Amino acid sequence: MRMIMLGAPGAGKGTQTERLAKHFGIPTISTGEIFRSNIKQGTELGVKVKAIIERGELVPDSLTCALVEDRISQPDCEKGYILDGFPRTIPQAVALDEMLAKRGHKLDYAANVDVPDEVIVERMAGRRICPSCGDSYHLIYHPPVKDGICDRCGAALAQRPDDAPETVLNRLSVYHRETQPLIDYYEKSGRVVTVDGTQPIDAVTANLVIALT
Ligand code: AP5
Repeated sequence: MRMIMLGAPGAGKGTQTERLAKHFGIPTISTGEIFRSNIKQGTELGVKVKAIIERGELVPDSLTCALVEDRISQPDCEKGYILDGFPRTIPQAVALDEMLAKRGHKLDYAANVDVPDEVIVERMAGRRICPSCGDSYHLIYHPPVKDGICDRCGAALAQRPDDAPETVLNRLSVYHRETQPLIDYYEKSGRVVTVDGTQPIDAVTANLVIALT
């Protein structure tokens, strides 16, 4: 299966992508994670994108598309994958269609995790991530067992720099302007599956699995 995750920043795309990937046995490709890991390692790409991401803007399409095309060409993507955070603009969606067509593949689903803006702001304020292994938590909805400590690797949890309140507002406005139109784009070919992302995490996963099976 080849699918993408749509939804506002903080809608729960990353959380659900991890769970769906385990369920369907396919890899996840998160452009946001790829960028964050490059920033952490101080690579040339990381240096290029750091300020853009911290302002809540989008990385240029050409850079992002090249990175995704390279990743979906890897052998572990042969049987399918879940794209989390890509495409995010109409030109990226068109580029993805071209990448797929070139390989004789098609996109099976665009899963849309629907969450209103006011819930998003609360989610971002409570999100904590592990800078070491990348695990994600929420102070109320998905707390670690030990306060401030990653369950998986024991590192101290931190807030993502782009989760600062003013950056979240900018990310939401970029989402409505650039990414929300993709729902219509994929609706036209009947590929959109929309779930209520305000439900508890397990319920959202269950609804997605039903809709995608
Ligand atoms: P990216 O990492 O993709 O960020 P995003 O889309 O803004 O999404 P988030 O990771 O913030 O949230 P999410 O929807 O995954 O929610 P999560 O599961 O963590 O991109 C970051 C940046 O990189 C972009 O701003 C851009 O600059 C750049 N970039 C990336 N891709 C790009 C592209 N294609 N083109 C150009 N630039 C690109 O959940 C959020 C919180 O809520 C967590 O704390 C979680 O525990 C909690 N939570 C989740 N589900 C629930 C629930 N059902 N109930 C209660 N709490 C929940």
